[in-house]
Order: sequence, then structure tokens, then C-alpha cells
Amino acid sequence: MVSFRVPPGTWRAECIVPGDKSLSHRALILAGMARGESRVIGDGPGEDLAATRRALAALGVSYQQGRIISPGVGDWRPATAPIDAGNSATTLRLLAGALAAQPFRTTLVGDASLMRRPMGRLAGPLAALGALIEVGPDGCPPVTVGGSRLRGAEVEIDLPSAQVRSAVTLAALQAEGPTIITSPPGFRDHTERWLEAAGLGRRLSDSAFRVLPGAVPPARYSIAGDLSSAAFLLAATALRPGAEVTVRGVTLNPGRTGFLDVLEAMGARVRRRTTGLIHGDPVGDVTVTGEVLRSAEIGASLAVRALDELPLVAVLGAAALGDTLVWGAAELRVKESDRIAAAVRLVRELGGRAEERPDGFLVSGSGGLMGGEVAAGADHRIAMAAAVAAVIARDGVKVHGFDTAAVSWPGFPEALEALWS
Ligand code: S3P
Repeated sequence: MVSFRVPPGTWRAECIVPGDKSLSHRALILAGMARGESRVIGDGPGEDLAATRRALAALGVSYQQGRIISPGVGDWRPATAPIDAGNSATTLRLLAGALAAQPFRTTLVGDASLMRRPMGRLAGPLAALGALIEVGPDGCPPVTVGGSRLRGAEVEIDLPSAQVRSAVTLAALQAEGPTIITSPPGFRDHTERWLEAAGLGRRLSDSAFRVLPGAVPPARYSIAGDLSSAAFLLAATALRPGAEVTVRGVTLNPGRTGFLDVLEAMGARVRRRTTGLIHGDPVGDVTVTGEVLRSAEIGASLAVRALDELPLVAVLGAAALGDTLVWGAAELRVKESDRIAAAVRLVRELGGRAEERPDGFLVSGSGGLMGGEVAAGADHRIAMAAAVAAVIARDGVKVHGFDTAAVSWPGFPEALEALWS
């Protein structure tokens, strides 16, 4: 159990956060698909990324301090056992796509949480390319792929899921003939931007992308900071009127910045400065100043761009006066935990008022929380949201199972406490 208690007063801080998890997974996998030596600079430290590195090692890709040497995806060797993606759905889903064109079959599994997550969503889109894919009878892992040749196709995905799109894209790179992938807009389009920069694809619209099959070239990937990790420091600061924090060099991909829009809608002051593009993907600095927050309604199109940060919105809602409603976010129920249930439980256990909706939650804020003890429920983002709630919790917050935060950010408690220390 880890305790958080935040002293009165404000702060002014400047922070650097770890390399972005979504970008790091993609860089490691694309580098692993290329024949030869690639570099990944600034990839994140969490356990999810360790799972991707281990999975690639099982396929014959070597990784040493950001130096990746691979025989190329066409010469990956069959793993000698099922690949264990740990807690990481991104590892499992993206690798299922990358492995779909192999002549051999590979089985992918994960920890107890990942073994309960939906994989049926991969099956239709990958099968449309001619992939042979099997998922467990309940639609969850194990996922087994490989053993057929792929051909380009028009693939429609009915969810705005970056993981499913990226899986199909990595498979389509190895198909005969181009593929056009469409899905509802709003998803993080890191993969698409990087492939377009490498000449392996072409954006057709906000929702459609043409994949041009070809060999992924060895490259040097610089990883921007993780805006989803930074969100916890930004939220903590937004909750303390007069406090200010700047995070530098974070991804500002439009599919990732929804939480900044939420902070603004709730009355925090947010300044963003795009400082450049890395492989066509924007990166920059964000400054947030805390204010007295107001309630807000977050609908489906904003929710998809703030998906991983929505547990924090429950905490912000508890600090505001009035009802904060999140809707159109049923996907939250199939994340590392049921994050609708977990976010509501978190607010209630700390003395606030919240209720579940089928596709979101309603928090009736009263300007703060009492505090108390909460369980992380084996979900890193719930653990970290609970720690942030300490900013508005009169008696502080104790988090059981806080260790799970290491899935995305092992150094998080130190970075959070450094804000006010
Ligand atoms: C991710 C996509 C999102 C997100 C996850 C990371 C990615 O999932 O929630 O944390 O890196 O592609 P979905 O694709 O399931 O929406």
C-alpha cells in the first residue's frame, strides 16, 4: 500500500515524462520488422514495453539499449512457446497483425487481465486479408495467427480502435497488393503517420488509409514523451488553483489530446505549443494552470480522444461543483479493468458521489473528497488516478496494489510528489 497526502499551497514545476507507450510499442515492432539495425531513442520504461521487447526477442530480434537488430519480418523465427504479452493488449494485438503473414503459426497469451479482453475485433479485419486467425471460445486470448498468404483488401473496422487498425496495417504491409482500411475517426494515428512518412501508406481521409505493401526500412525512432502519463501531473495541477506545471516534448497527436480539451472545458488554463514533427507526428510542450474547476459533459467524440485519461475525469468531476457526465465510452469496460466501475468505485470510496452508466459515468462533484483507502484493482491508470485524488482529499489517499503503476510508469510516485516537494 502507498499513501499520498498533499500539503496545502501551490507549486510551479517543469517535468519530463517517460517515452510514450503507444509510440514505443510501434517503434519497437516496426524496428523489429525491418531487416538490419534500427535505433529507438527514448522508449518508455514500463512493463508493457518490456513485454513487447521480450516478444520480439522470442522471434529472433535483438534489443540492446535502443539498438535493434533484426533478420526482418520475413525471416522471423517461430517462437518456441506461446508469446506472453503480459498486461499489454497493444503488444498482443499489434503482434497478432505483424505475425499474421508468417508461414508458421504463433499463439499469443497474456496475464489474467489480458486473458479477459476482447480479441474477436481482430478476427474479421485480419480474416478479410486472408489471415487464419483463431481466438478463444469466449472471444478472448489465446489468439493464434499465421500459416496463410495475405492479399490486399478493403477492410472496414467498426470501432475507432488504434490497436485494431495498427494490427491490420502491420499485416497489410506484408500482403500482395494495397489495402484500404477505414474506421470511425478520432483514434490515435501514430502508425499511419509514420508509415506515410516512410512512403508505405497514404492517408485518404480522417478515417481511411491506404497501405502500400513493402519492406519496412531500418530507421531511427525518437520517442516523444507520453501525454497519457503526463496527464496525471497535469490533472494534479489542474486540481490545485494557482499551481502550474509544464511538461516538455510530449506527443500532441490529435488522437491523444482530448484530455487537454477536457481540462479546458472544466476551466483549467491550458497552453500547448507544437515544437516540431517526428516522422510526421506532432510533439510539443503543455502548460496547465490550476483553477476552480467546473463540471462538464464529455461525449463520444471527445471521449475517444481522451480514452486512457477518463478515470482522471472522474477525479476532476469530484472536485468540480455539479454533475460531470461521460457518455459514449463503453470501451472503458474492456480496458485493463472495467474502468467505468473502477472510476465510480474510486470516487465513492473516497467519499464522493458517482454512478455508473452503461457507456460512462456521472460524478456529482462537491468541491473535494474526504479521502480514504482504495484498491488499484490491478489497473495502472486507476492506481495513478487514485494518487492524483489525494490533491483534493482532506485525509489523504492510501492505494492498495499501487505497484501496478509500473505497467506504464515505474517512477510515477516520485514524479507526482516532486510537484509539491
Ligand atoms: C492504444 C490504443 C488504445 C488505448 C491503449 C493504447 C495503442 O486502445 O486505449 O492504451 O497504442 O494503439 P484501443 O485501440 O483499444 O482503443
